[in-house]
Amino acid sequence: MMVKFLPKLNLRRFETPRLLFRGVDRRPLYLGIGSMFLSSLFDGLTIALLIPFLKLVLGEIDTFTLPDLGWTASLNQWLQAQGKDTTVGLCTIVLVCSLCLKAYFFFTAKEQTTGYEEAATHALRRRLFTNYLYAPTRFYDTTKLGTITNNLQMEVVYVGNTLGYASVCMISVLTLLAYIATLLVVSWKLTLVIVVLISVIAYAMSLYLRSLRKYGDRVIELGRVLSVRILETLSGIRVVKAFGTEKFEQERFSAFSNEYRTARMELRAKQHVVEPLTELATLGSGMLILAGAYVFLIQQGLLNTAELMLFMLVLIRSVPVTRRINNARGYILENLSAFAKVAEGLRLAEQFPPATGHLPFEGLARAIRFRQVGFSYNGRSEVLRDFDLEVPQGQTVALVGSSGAGKSTVASLLPRFYEVTSGSIEIDGLDIRELDPISLRHHIGIVSQDTYIFNATVFENIAYGLPEATPEQVREAALLANAHEFIQHLPEGYQTFVGDRGVQLSGGQRQRLSIARTLLRNPEILILDEATSALDSQSEALVQEAIERLRFNRTVIVIAHRLSTVRNADKIVVMEKGRIVEAGEHAQLLAQRGAYWSFHNLQTVAR
Ligand SMILES: Nc1ncnc2c1ncn2[C@@H]1O[C@H](COP(=O)(O)OP(=O)(O)OP(=O)(O)O)[C@@H](O)[C@H]1O
Ligand SMILES: [Mg+2]
Repeated sequence: MMVKFLPKLNLRRFETPRLLFRGVDRRPLYLGIGSMFLSSLFDGLTIALLIPFLKLVLGEIDTFTLPDLGWTASLNQWLQAQGKDTTVGLCTIVLVCSLCLKAYFFFTAKEQTTGYEEAATHALRRRLFTNYLYAPTRFYDTTKLGTITNNLQMEVVYVGNTLGYASVCMISVLTLLAYIATLLVVSWKLTLVIVVLISVIAYAMSLYLRSLRKYGDRVIELGRVLSVRILETLSGIRVVKAFGTEKFEQERFSAFSNEYRTARMELRAKQHVVEPLTELATLGSGMLILAGAYVFLIQQGLLNTAELMLFMLVLIRSVPVTRRINNARGYILENLSAFAKVAEGLRLAEQFPPATGHLPFEGLARAIRFRQVGFSYNGRSEVLRDFDLEVPQGQTVALVGSSGAGKSTVASLLPRFYEVTSGSIEIDGLDIRELDPISLRHHIGIVSQDTYIFNATVFENIAYGLPEATPEQVREAALLANAHEFIQHLPEGYQTFVGDRGVQLSGGQRQRLSIARTLLRNPEILILDEATSALDSQSEALVQEAIERLRFNRTVIVIAHRLSTVRNADKIVVMEKGRIVEAGEHAQLLAQRGAYWSFHNLQTVAR
């Protein structure tokens, strides 16, 4: 028999359970623990009643007496007066009732703790998802999507399950305590021997289980690696196909999977030893106890056969209980790392403090101003330096320049996807860091080249986040975006489901869909980042036309490689390595014969 108590819990490894289980109704948990306790109590009672019952049946006694507790005196008197048959019948009834109650409370305990477990998992998943939603762009630059999905899908479940296992542990420990208490009443000496034996075996087993720990850790880690790999490979399936690297991926995956298999084999081989060893130790110690009790207690008349039978019964019943404790303990140890991972997700807000500013953004009246803006993604290399730019209300400013010059970076600083490292961005003289970012973003529309199409209908894609949008509004937005035409030709028009990532649509169609989405929100500030670079000239013309319409009565920052897109802008800004090298109108810049002029020449030659 193996009793293995929980290891000393290192609270830092648990990452404060309070953080994890905050805001979950604890009543079911308390109810569950209470029921567990009652269940153990009735279990103990059942076993305690077995001795007199056995003695009665074996004919060692004729009447039944309860321990003298004062109030039991009159009850004992009454019992004495009953015949043996009545007593046996009574004993049977009480035993059966006690067994039923034990089962009932066991069930309730399970039901309640499972309810708590699921509620806690659900709450965790929700909180974690919210945290990920609000995490800044910066976080996503450095975190694998696979890790996040894994945390949301698996790790929270592990944490929840651990709660379940903890309650199993608790039930089992209580049950064992009830057994030991019963044994103590019969013979403290024998109980002492058993407890010492159990402890020695438990200690030996815990040493062994601890050595298993590193195998368990490795299995879990490799499992995570594997799921991240799967997600990454499949999200890049287009690249895989395009480069014909299926075989390469297949072999790479196979290697990972094989490593995982080996690690699991190692772990399981070690685990297989536990069961037979437990059995051996249990039976061995059982035999020892039997022989010892016979020589030292029964022969001396200190113990009778009924009591010895009870001991054996308790020993046998203890085996599954201790095995449950062992398993639960192993599971909890195995999954402590899940606690750390989930807690890390919940602490994102500490790591990435929420953006400052709480003034609602009321609208742009005069101008957006970049003042001496410096920016770095990693704190080392500067991407923008001394960037000074004014975008007056209602005007269109175009950013052009070679790849990597920092154009998209400028565009992502305005909606505060990132915060400037030095200098400031002001709207009507107010630093945007004073503004509530969500309210600011409500007024900014962004159309980038990398348009995301949701797995939903065309209508839902355009009216994304605007449940009250009417079909007329959506249609009007689509018309303005030059998207209505092609939507009409889709099998179910606006109700056509555009599949996973909208692959059924062409690049230009997706682009126009995303322009319609932006238009519907009617933002007063518009950022168009390379909105036409992926399109053929016909789609480009359509998108271009849509953009021209969008510009009307709006403040626009347009980024483009193709200078044809930007020639109508009020101001064209040429960037190089994070700085502005030229600014002015199209004709003016051409006349200067500088960077813009040479760009322009390159493109006209290319065409
Ligand atoms: N999320 C990011 N994390 C770290 N560095 C980044 C990130 N995004 C861009 N950079 C770096 O910042 C620099 C400017 O990038 P940016 O995307 O602003 O250029 P761009 O002018 O828009 O180029 P392109 O015309 O190719 O779109 C590049 O050197 C790039 O490597
Ligand atoms: Mg860019």
